[in-house]
Amino acid sequence: MPFYRRLGVVPPKRHTALRHEPGFRGEGIYYEEVLTLAGFGRAYSIAYHLRPPTRVRKVEEAGTLPLETVEQPTLRHHHLKTGPIRRGGDPVTGRVPLLVNEDVTLARCRPAEPQAELYRNATRDELLFVHRGSGRLETMFGVLPFRPFDYVVIPRCTTYRFDFDEGTPPDLLLIEAAGNVTIPPRYLNPDGQLRLGAPYYERDLHGPSETLIIDREGDTPVLIRDGQRLTRYVLANHPFDVAGWDGMVYPYTFNADDFEPITGTVHQPPPVHQTFEAPGFVVCTFAPRMLDTHPEAIKVPYAHSNVQADEVLYYVRGRFGSRRGVEEASITLHPRGIPHGPHPGTIAASRPVTRTDELAVMVDTVRPLLLTRQAMEMDDPNYPYSWLE
Ligand SMILES: [Fe+2]
Repeated sequence: MPFYRRLGVVPPKRHTALRHEPGFRGEGIYYEEVLTLAGFGRAYSIAYHLRPPTRVRKVEEAGTLPLETVEQPTLRHHHLKTGPIRRGGDPVTGRVPLLVNEDVTLARCRPAEPQAELYRNATRDELLFVHRGSGRLETMFGVLPFRPFDYVVIPRCTTYRFDFDEGTPPDLLLIEAAGNVTIPPRYLNPDGQLRLGAPYYERDLHGPSETLIIDREGDTPVLIRDGQRLTRYVLANHPFDVAGWDGMVYPYTFNADDFEPITGTVHQPPPVHQTFEAPGFVVCTFAPRMLDTHPEAIKVPYAHSNVQADEVLYYVRGRFGSRRGVEEASITLHPRGIPHGPHPGTIAASRPVTRTDELAVMVDTVRPLLLTRQAMEMDDPNYPYSWLE
């Protein structure tokens, strides 16, 4: 979880009245809502609404988001060129699921339209990587600005609306986590602070910058997703009516360019790039960095057989020293049990190079990943043979 934050007005003591005259129906207070993780056992935030957050006028079916996985007859490497995915839908309906297991769904989204309805993922934390585009995420916690190369971490049950700036059409990678997305515990000292030497720290994490108080009685639909099921809740008032909140559950951003790379005289393994973790997977950021400085260093990664991990790379920017044929927005899946490594010629080509401007997001999963029907439509069947010449 990120660290404690407070925005707007809150009473001096939790669970006591925050006066507001005349208040809803003359009750003279703001209405407290407590968001807790793991029942009441983990991090929480307390928010203060103009109206009770429970005023539901209508509950209706809103269809499903089916997930079609494709049985693979062989174990092999995959290369998905996702850059040309046709734009469609909005930041919610336009998601194209590609790789899935019980712990995580990886999807791409190139929305064509603004977000049509407020949205809430009831069962998954959402980690969005903003490849292109900028704007604001609106939630009851306020306004959270985001920009290219931001990770936007949205805790489950946060109702939200993406508002993208005009200009650059948005291009997103979505990582939907069945467990809670957290800062790697090894980055924290026993006092809960990010350690000196961790690749980022508190000032690199950005929470909502200002409150958003929409004082509006009237039907407000919210699309709620739990698994593949969609339900539309019509609320009797706008849910973004929070005058203040405090706690440790809220959406926040971290920009990949703020990741402080750890380098050595020889190749450092992927855990030095770790950025987030969740049960069943980790997220790493391959940020621009100095390459290994030993005079005999081999500056691209050694070949390795993934042992007990499926490895996904999303290529964001720059020239990818160890790979040939990948392009921006390519996704490679190197599954467990078979080796992969630098492409022929890349070791020699890297000898005179002193730094890399590559930016890539890696997701390593404990359980095997399945490919969806949409993933297979953009799969390069010749990729397994790309190490031959
Ligand atoms: Fe690898």
